[in-house]
Parts: sequence; structure tokens; C-alpha cells
Amino acid sequence: MTVSTPDRRDSGNAETRSSSLDDRNVVLTVTGSIAAYKSCHLVRDLVRAGCRVQVVMTESAAEFVGPLTFAALSGRPVLTGLFSDVPPGSPVHLQPVEWGDVLVTAPATANYIGKLAGGLADDLATTIAQAFDKPILIAPAMNPRMWKNRAVQRNVDLLKERGVNFMGPVEGAMAGMDEQAGVGRMAEPHLIFDRIEELLSDPTWRGKRVVVTSGPTREPFDPVRFIGNRSSGRMGDAVARQARLKGADVILVRGRGAAGAPPEFVGLVEVETAREMSAAVKEHFDRCDLLVMTAAVADWTVKKPSRSKLKKRDGAPVLTLERTEDILAWACRNRKKQALIGFALETEKHLEEAKRKLVDKDVDLIALNDPTKADSSFGGDSTRLTLLTRDEKVIELPLLTKHAAARRLLDAVEPYLPKP
Ligand code: CTP
Repeated sequence: MTVSTPDRRDSGNAETRSSSLDDRNVVLTVTGSIAAYKSCHLVRDLVRAGCRVQVVMTESAAEFVGPLTFAALSGRPVLTGLFSDVPPGSPVHLQPVEWGDVLVTAPATANYIGKLAGGLADDLATTIAQAFDKPILIAPAMNPRMWKNRAVQRNVDLLKERGVNFMGPVEGAMAGMDEQAGVGRMAEPHLIFDRIEELLSDPTWRGKRVVVTSGPTREPFDPVRFIGNRSSGRMGDAVARQARLKGADVILVRGRGAAGAPPEFVGLVEVETAREMSAAVKEHFDRCDLLVMTAAVADWTVKKPSRSKLKKRDGAPVLTLERTEDILAWACRNRKKQALIGFALETEKHLEEAKRKLVDKDVDLIALNDPTKADSSFGGDSTRLTLLTRDEKVIELPLLTKHAAARRLLDAVEPYLPKP
């Protein structure tokens, strides 16, 4: 089994609030590049996540996207000049330095990066950046030849040495360039969003180890066919990412049928069947503090899968099923200090069934999902969970994105984690 750290992609809808972004102040500097339009999406997502966003634009950025667009999206006037928006003699141009929890520059031109590296402050954007002493994130966008230029690379290295964070640029199509343009395109807004979330997160779970299972399992009945289920893995992936944002070391045991890319910075173990998932969990269980069984593990597997592809001409196959191992039940029997979270997907007698599982499975928390509710979509981006704890608390969460729900789930299990 391999453990790797791949790239991820995800997007939210509904209510995206999560505690690391909610009520935080982001200063977003936009400099002169065609990629400025992408930062509109970034502002929208940050505002939806509960952030306040103060946009600062350079003169050339305003040639690409009008300040009014950013003002409408952020709900705040855009700052553009050192003196233009400010009453005479007012130090207001440095207010974003005090106010901001993070400074993000997206897109950042070679000129802006060069000025920052050289300590110059000849406009509002660079003046704020030179005075900013909290996390800074830069997402460059420029012509690939410029990006390769040794002077630009040296400036980037200099800023990195001073603790500035960079995201991208990446390879891909760019306006006005042919397809094989090279590296220079600004990182996608959702990745910049994720990085901001990381920079603002409070890693209170540092040193803790969390194992999360995610996605469906597949039980083969011949070499090319399997019995599966409709789990997208989005909830498990969100739990893994939120645990990572809390500072935990995370192992994500993920069914291959899960949708999209898994989260970044987690140890990934990809599995196919319930048996493989069980083996992976057992391998990592002893050293973990928390196991979150989000995966939709098959309850039955095919007893004797065919070694060769079944042919139609041989008629409809008769499949004999047998029970898979209940991984959560195994974990309950073998736990020493670990906290355990199980998920329950119930279509009838929801609370009653979930309470029964809490007791029968002897877990610390059950997250109940009712797929019959119109807004609690199986496979979608949002969910409405009810959390039942060992201490008989019933916490009904509102409709939240899976990331926000995952955050609340982890907060709720905190009292049951082993004490250091
Ligand atoms: N689970 C598990 N191993 C299995 C099946 C399920 O660890 N072989 C876990 C799931 O990941 C989930 C929890 O058990 O966290 C509840 O699964 P569910 O299938 O809803 O409950 P069951 O107890 O299997 O009961 P039933 O299917 O009859 O509702």
C-alpha cells in the first residue's frame, strides 16, 4: 500500500462558513495581469466563507478589471492609490496592515515581486506589503519567459527566504499564448482559497494522528465488474482536510471510486475493496488518536468472484454474497485510547437507528445523514448532519458545505480525544 500526497480540487456552495475563515480579514492585492478577472472568484468565495476582504489594486490592475467589480463583490470600496482615496494627512493607507490577518497578492506581476524583493514601496500595494508582518501569500502570473528570468527567480527566492508563501504559477493555457506556453499561469482561485484557509487555521491538533476513511468500496464479481455504491467521498475528504487544517497528521484511506482529487498534505492510501480498507485501517489504527469511518463500506462482498470475464452467452450469473468485516466494530473491540466516529445513513426512524448504532457500536459520536431530505444531497457539496455524542447530546447542524460540517464534527469529538 502506498502513501502519497497528491493535489486536490473542490468547490463549495450553500453556506461555506468554517471557523478558520469566518470573521477573518483578508487584504487582497490585485496587480496588472489578465488573470485579475480570476481574483473576482476568489473574492466571492472568501466573502461567502465569512471573510471580510479589502481589495487593493495597482493602477495597471484597474486596466484589466474595474475597481467597481471588486467593490461590489467585497462590499467595500477598493483602495487604489497612496493618496487618491485618502483625506489629506491621513495614515489610512496603512490601515490594512493593522486590519488584515493575511495579505494575498493575486495575480502578482514580475514588477510587483521585484519591488517587494528590493524593498521598494512606491504605490499603495507595495507600501502595504512592505509593512505587513503577518502571513503573505503571492500567486504570480506572467509570461513564462519572464517567470524563467533569473532576476525574477532570484527575487522569488529572496522573498521565500523571508517567509513569504508562494502558490504557482502553473503550466497551462494563457491569454495570447499558444497552448504549450509553459509555466506562468496563475494558480486556480480555489487552490489559492485553500492555501489562505491553511494560513489562517489554528493548528490546535498538532501532534495528533487521525485516520479517515472516505468514498465507496467496490466488490468485484469478475475482473472488470464490481458491486459498488454511490458515495462520492466528498464528506470523508472534507473531514481529512479539516483535520489537517487543525494541525493533525492525517491518513486518508480512500476508495478508488471517490470523485475528484483527494486533499493535499494527507497520507493517502488508495483501496478498492472492503477487505483492503479494513487492512489499511488496521495498519494505522494503533498509532492514531481518532478514527473517522466516513466511507460507505460494502456490507457484502461476492463470495467467489470469477477469474475471467463473465460472458452474456452463459446467461445471467448468480452471485452469492457474504458479509464483509465491520471495520468500525473491529476498531471498537481493539481500541485502547482512540476516539471513534461512525456515520449512519438512515432512511427511516433516523434518530432511533442512529442512537442504536451509537450504543451497539460503542463509538463516541455518530454523524447521522438523512438522504431523503431534499437539501441533504448524496454526492453533493452540502449536507445536513445530526451529531449524536456518547454523552447523549444531539446536535442538529444546519445545511452546511461538507467542509463546514466536517469542521463542526471534529469540534464535537474533541472532548473524547485521548488526553496528551
Ligand atoms: N462500516 C464499517 N464496516 C462495514 C460497514 C460499515 O466500518 N463493513 C461503518 C461505516 O463506515 C459507518 C458505520 O459503519 O461509519 C455505519 O454503517 P452503516 O452501514 O450505516 O451501518 P450498519 O451498522 O452496517 O447497519 P445497517 O447497514 O444495517 O444500517
